[in-house]
Amino acid sequence: MIDVLLGLQWGDEGKGKIVDYLADKYDIIARFQGGPNAGHTLYVNGTKVVLHTIPSGVFQPHCLNLIGNGVVIDPVTLQAELHKILPLCPDLLSRLFVSQRAHLILPTHRALDAASEAAKGSDKIGSTLKGIGPAYMDKTGRNGLRVGDILSPNFTEKYNKLKQKHLQMLKQYDQVVEWEQWEAPFLEAIEQLGKLQIVNGEYWLNNHLKNGKKVLAEGAQGSMLDIDFGTYPFVTSSNTIAGGVCSGLGVAPGMVGDVYGITKAYCTRVGSGPFPTELFDETGDALRKAGAEFGATTGRPRRCGWIDLVALRYTVMLSGVTKLIITKADILDEFNPIKAAVAYTVNGVETNEFPYDVNDDIGLVPVYKTFEAWDTPISGTTNFDELPQTFKDYCSFVEDYLGTKIAFISNGTGRNELIAIS
Ligand code: GDP
Ligand code: IMO
Ligand code: MG
Repeated sequence: MIDVLLGLQWGDEGKGKIVDYLADKYDIIARFQGGPNAGHTLYVNGTKVVLHTIPSGVFQPHCLNLIGNGVVIDPVTLQAELHKILPLCPDLLSRLFVSQRAHLILPTHRALDAASEAAKGSDKIGSTLKGIGPAYMDKTGRNGLRVGDILSPNFTEKYNKLKQKHLQMLKQYDQVVEWEQWEAPFLEAIEQLGKLQIVNGEYWLNNHLKNGKKVLAEGAQGSMLDIDFGTYPFVTSSNTIAGGVCSGLGVAPGMVGDVYGITKAYCTRVGSGPFPTELFDETGDALRKAGAEFGATTGRPRRCGWIDLVALRYTVMLSGVTKLIITKADILDEFNPIKAAVAYTVNGVETNEFPYDVNDDIGLVPVYKTFEAWDTPISGTTNFDELPQTFKDYCSFVEDYLGTKIAFISNGTGRNELIAIS
């Protein structure tokens, strides 16, 4: 069976930390979508590591790791990442596999991302500028280059053809993006990428599944950034929900087992777009400070607000979440009271559904339920029974509202700062 772990909010829910913990019980960790727009943080013997393209199972020595066909790869970022983590993980290359069908991010994809964002002015998506959107556009437009193409004798020809197409496209923008300096490192990194273990990912994975191996699919971004169901157009360019696993890895729906859905005990978003429970006051600032809410990929300050159970019930439904994980519950130790959105009013009418047109001025106001603050801090324990009753009441409410049981509560950055609920 293949289990799935994905973010239920707008990304940065703590997926990296949890995958690193859960990988102990899996043979293979597989990324199925996204690319270097992701920043997954974990701590290896106290050292902070941020992974962008490499799956978060690499620090469990028995785990194999697959970058699946649904991922878009920037060879330069991947090389930089390998250089950083090889000293911590010397056998990494023997445990890392790349699907030949994964698409490549070219220097001119990054240039197009930058030019497109600049042209949008105040309507910009707030992209990470890693070239994600343009690379997926070439994939669906049937122009893209794939990892398997690196091994073809015509690679340079194919690369130049696509580059020329991009240069024509760049002419339509006023913005000049100096991308040329990115080309030599790209071509060098392509050579290195060609030396990794490039596999037919779908056969590789299905054969392992047939042999009884346990696989965990690692999501990137979050469900509210999904290309179909997120707050379009302020989304990323891939399917971040559980549905993306089958097409992003080549596994059949019947092979999918548990779906772990992660949410912070509050909510954050980085980049533009609607965020119904965003706080513009000192509580929002305090959440950012207490939670160190700055982007792991871009360093941008994250927008902060209360947990949004309306949006969460929507994303739990979209992915059929079977096990909930609440992270950063320790951050709320300092807050009193604690709130959660349990409905919205839209032009005065109450609803429990996430609206289609939340982007427009539809007069959306969240309806909050207020919880008592935890009477003792929840950091520092790994035992559910030791948690304060006020926190247990909060957990019961969330479980009832979402119709899903909580499997883990994370209360610190370290791998084992976690409470498992049996
Ligand atoms: P990801 O993209 O979902 O992997 O999440 P990020 O790594 O972008 O952001 C999550 C941040 O929260 C990282 O800095 C983690 O070290 C940190 N983190 C994860 N879980 C917890 C937790 O339970 N408590 C605290 N205090 N920090 C956490
Ligand atoms: P992880 O995996 C948070 C956001 C960007 C922007 C929008 C589109 O660490 O949770 P893109 O570069 O994909 O074109 O940007 O999506 N975004 C993320 N926000 N965490 C991420 O990944 C993100 N990846 C993209 O900020 O608003
Ligand atoms: Mg992140």
